[in-house]
Amino acid sequence: MCGIIGFTGKRAAQDILLDGLQRLEYRGYDSAGIAFFKENSGHISVRKTAGKVSDLRAIVDEENISTCGIGHTRWATHGGVTNANAHPHRVNNVTLIHNGIIENYHQLIEKYKLMGKLRSETDTEVAAAVFDANFNGNPIEAIKKGLEDIKGSFAFCIMFKNHPGEIYIVRNVSPMVATYTKEQGAFVASDLTAFIEFTNKYFVLPEYCIGKLTKDGIEIHDLEGKEVEPEYLTVDWDVSTAEKNGYPHYMIKEIHEQPTAFANTVNFRIKNNLPDFSDDGIDDSLFEGITDVTVIACGTAMYAGNVGRSLIQNHIGLPVNVAIASEFRYERPTITDKTLVIVVSQSGETIDTLEALRLAKTKTDRTLAVVNVKGSTIARESKYVLYTHAGPEIAVASTKAYTVQVAAMYLIGARIGVVNNLCEKSKIESFIADLKKVPDAIKKVLEMEDIIRTYAARMANAHDAFFIGRGLDYTLSMEGALKLKEISYIHAEAYAAGELKHGTIALISEGVPVIAIATQEHVYQKVISNIREVKARGAFVVLLSKDEKITDPSVCDVHIPLPAIRDELSVFEAAVILQILAYYTSVEKDVNPDQPRNLAKSVTVE
Ligand code: M6R
Repeated sequence: MCGIIGFTGKRAAQDILLDGLQRLEYRGYDSAGIAFFKENSGHISVRKTAGKVSDLRAIVDEENISTCGIGHTRWATHGGVTNANAHPHRVNNVTLIHNGIIENYHQLIEKYKLMGKLRSETDTEVAAAVFDANFNGNPIEAIKKGLEDIKGSFAFCIMFKNHPGEIYIVRNVSPMVATYTKEQGAFVASDLTAFIEFTNKYFVLPEYCIGKLTKDGIEIHDLEGKEVEPEYLTVDWDVSTAEKNGYPHYMIKEIHEQPTAFANTVNFRIKNNLPDFSDDGIDDSLFEGITDVTVIACGTAMYAGNVGRSLIQNHIGLPVNVAIASEFRYERPTITDKTLVIVVSQSGETIDTLEALRLAKTKTDRTLAVVNVKGSTIARESKYVLYTHAGPEIAVASTKAYTVQVAAMYLIGARIGVVNNLCEKSKIESFIADLKKVPDAIKKVLEMEDIIRTYAARMANAHDAFFIGRGLDYTLSMEGALKLKEISYIHAEAYAAGELKHGTIALISEGVPVIAIATQEHVYQKVISNIREVKARGAFVVLLSKDEKITDPSVCDVHIPLPAIRDELSVFEAAVILQILAYYTSVEKDVNPDQPRNLAKSVTVE
């Protein structure tokens, strides 16, 4: 989604803005622009273009010593990808950038008589016109009055003509963080990665509070004019963590970070061989007496929830419902005060997940967020939060975040079992002891990278691919298919292996790749039978299983052996293989896996 950066301070702004936008590229975008106060003047200049930040760099002035400006990467929502629709938008005295959606822009066009006066097709320009119409020389009053009319989600970064060195910020729902350092000045951004080069301390701008940034500091007031003290947070990673460090893409770097991410998420939470969330401030009363679990999430995070569902339901015996956040919001929730609601989100900003959490909170106090980004909105709004410690995930395709989300679900499931005596303690201890072995197992899988890479060449020519498995392997298949389609643009579907013959097998013809996962002993032979069914129809079968060798070579075309580990944990090994396969298929097709078309890292619009 749109990326925002703003800077006002003691040094030239342009490089900070452009470098910040480059760091925000991972969020997904299709045009870019900056605006800045001309040197020693209250006049504002704008440079913007459809295309990449590199295209923007080509049209900015080389010698720009302005010390105050704002920059934006746009992910098109209202209006196509054109220069005119790119941000910043200027209407007379007001120049602004925006992330979010103005829902009542039609009414605003009527109320402010803007028909025929706008130069773009965007809702953002309408907002600029609203603030401008309310501007009588006082920026804060203009923003307050404008907000009385503007409805929707927004993070605005605004400059007013003749107010040099000042940037005004305000948000509702859409994320926005800011910071001040004595050495540099004041920064604002849609996320911390934009200014992590300068500081690892930041605060989240409270909703409906107006921030004024100058080279001397940041003042925040609520709409009544009361001063608000920002709550600074610190992250334990720095700029090097958010760089590629010699890898060609973030995605493959992040795939390789999984053993560490897993250990960082799991190890400190194991005490006396059992999961323990006391360091997270999570009280066991959260789990005591629950009758069921609802997991709410989107995309990969939801697929991680599916793996958790399979574990909790089958081993702990509690019913688990996994809800797609965007659907949950419009359904009648069956949650009671004995339901544990787990929301899963890497970014902690996905709007549908956030709104679903808000709805769930009207039904139960037992909300637990599994989130990666510290201080994000979902983390703040959930009653409890269990942070995953994957470090920043920059590639659009989620990899290490998925692995740690599944790990977190496993820990939560085990704790539910302990607290409610739903499983023998010794069994849980043995499970946890094996869980600690997962990083080593993943390392072994990573050693197979070059072999897996050779299979990607075969995948790259496919139009369709199918991922099949049963039980836990089926839940993983969904994530495998998503990974392949989002970064290689190959149509991919996941099927429960036994369900194929109820229709979908009609799509299997000569050479169609079928990625079969068969790691679960109790259904192994059944999956092998299902594989034979597709093989008999000409499928090119890639089999992931724990067999050291396949005794009957007619079962598959390619066999990828997984290191020995208990069945419930194979999902971690197989996930890494599917990620590597998708990554190299994308590379083979000359797609940039870090920035697939049409996608955004953090989906902050509905
Ligand atoms: O930040 P979130 O985990 O809430 O994001 C949810 C999905 O948008 C996300 O998992 C998406 O499906 C992945 N980036 C795909 O790889």
